[in-house]
Amino acid sequence: MKKNVLAVVLATALSASFTMNSAAHAQASFSDYVQTQHSFAHEHMDNVDVLVLLAAESDDGSIALPQMWSEDTRNMIQSALAIEEFTGKNGQQVELLALPDFYAKRLWVVGTGKTLQRKDAEKLGATLAAQLSDKTDNVVVHAKGYSDAQIAAMAHGMDLRNYRFDKYKSEPAARPDYTVHWHGDNGSAAAAAYATTQPLAHGVFVARDIINLPGSDGYPQAIAELAQEAVSGYDDIKATVYTPEQVKEMGMGSLYGVSQGSQHKAHLLVVEYQGGNDEAPIALVGKGNTFDTGGYNLKTSGSSIVRMQTDKAGGAAVLGAVMALAGKDAEVNVAGVVPLSHNLISGSATLPGDVLVAGDGTRIEVVNTDAEGRLILADGIWYARDHLKARAIADIATLTGSKVGAVGTDYSAVFSDHSALLEAMKTAGETTGELVWQLPLGPYDGIIDSWLADVQNVGSPGAQAGARFLQHFAKDTPWIHIDMAGNAYATGANGIHPAGGNGYGVRLLTEWVENYNAASK
Ligand code: BES
Ligand code: MN
Ligand code: ZN
Repeated sequence: MKKNVLAVVLATALSASFTMNSAAHAQASFSDYVQTQHSFAHEHMDNVDVLVLLAAESDDGSIALPQMWSEDTRNMIQSALAIEEFTGKNGQQVELLALPDFYAKRLWVVGTGKTLQRKDAEKLGATLAAQLSDKTDNVVVHAKGYSDAQIAAMAHGMDLRNYRFDKYKSEPAARPDYTVHWHGDNGSAAAAAYATTQPLAHGVFVARDIINLPGSDGYPQAIAELAQEAVSGYDDIKATVYTPEQVKEMGMGSLYGVSQGSQHKAHLLVVEYQGGNDEAPIALVGKGNTFDTGGYNLKTSGSSIVRMQTDKAGGAAVLGAVMALAGKDAEVNVAGVVPLSHNLISGSATLPGDVLVAGDGTRIEVVNTDAEGRLILADGIWYARDHLKARAIADIATLTGSKVGAVGTDYSAVFSDHSALLEAMKTAGETTGELVWQLPLGPYDGIIDSWLADVQNVGSPGAQAGARFLQHFAKDTPWIHIDMAGNAYATGANGIHPAGGNGYGVRLLTEWVENYNAASK
């Protein structure tokens, strides 16, 4: 299986014309991504490798142990908990090895705090996954008193953490393949709750695959084809890919201009899911810049240019969210629009000072070729308005270093004049743990005025200029902008994310669409 995947990737690297069928063998279904299993049935187990006892924090600090364990066992555990001053606070953990006459080799008593929100439960599951060695065969989690949603969230967090991007390793480390047995109060309800998290995880996995693909393999056409393959298993998603010639013909000169200097020209990917009635779709527009050299405004430091293959993370998030919504059979019409570009230099590249004409006719002075994200999004937003007649638009992009300076990377920055969109986004951020912080759109009058053309593509303050530029193209359509620069990846694992692209935005956008759709009914 893995060998096939490797062969496909190498084939892509060697020739620009890989067929859609070969990509189909790239990781297509959920079970190709994680080999661990979750069981929610209540069978008794002997010889358990790791037994996890979840323990909520109580007011007096006492921990109740299952009555089915012998008194001797319970006394031993209570003594150990007392030595460690274990009170059930979230993040506390005590390990006991080789308890006499006990059915598990290791017992982990794990604190879950007083309340266990979805994001905390996901993180807790991820923390457990990170601690389980690949020698583990079976895990039992004693989760009496925890809700089905909490159990599902813990299992989901494990899945998210267990993803690996090892296509470029000559000897990939073994993937965990243990089975986790969740012993809660209602096995079938927990199983059903868990099943609803799988489409979301699948969306995150596909997004991570896309983000992680290096710039020479993951160019616009390759990403478009990978996306088509990823959604081919969803009979209710319609995927359309516009070729560079079509992009040009349709008038999307702003999108086209960014890749003009690359042999890999612009594409526009559109994925539409119809889960609602005849109403206009909610559009998600994601920046799919498959590599950012800066263009002639070249990124001149090694640290600024390296990992700029992750500049397609907004587009990846959009694709993943549409897949998640379709997989969940959400009752909403949603369209993902992903302008794909390759911001490189050559004799045919756009020059600083050039004027590009966008789909809506706006003439843009390209004062800085490194402000390319907004150029491709301008035409993506135009497409969402003009072709899809979207009733609301959210765009998401790794757009500005200025945003990183303002709010860092624990938050993305959101901009909007529409309170319903904003409120749905803030709630989505809280629920998913993909936090957002609002920054102002205005006044900043004249911020993107150009002496030469209609608008220019940079201004100050930087994050606001990017937002105001995009707003020009959203016009009167309810619109919200998410600047996720710096949020897309980390070189080390953290919480629900293994090293590499993390799929930031998939869960946020999925939740946002559901929130906003419900609120606008
Ligand atoms: N892709 C970058 C933004 C970025 C920076 C993402 C750091 C992730 C980490 C974007 O295309 C860019 O180059 N922005 C410029 C805009 C400037 C030229 C107005 C920036 O922020 O420096
Ligand atoms: Mn750039
Ligand atoms: Zn960029």
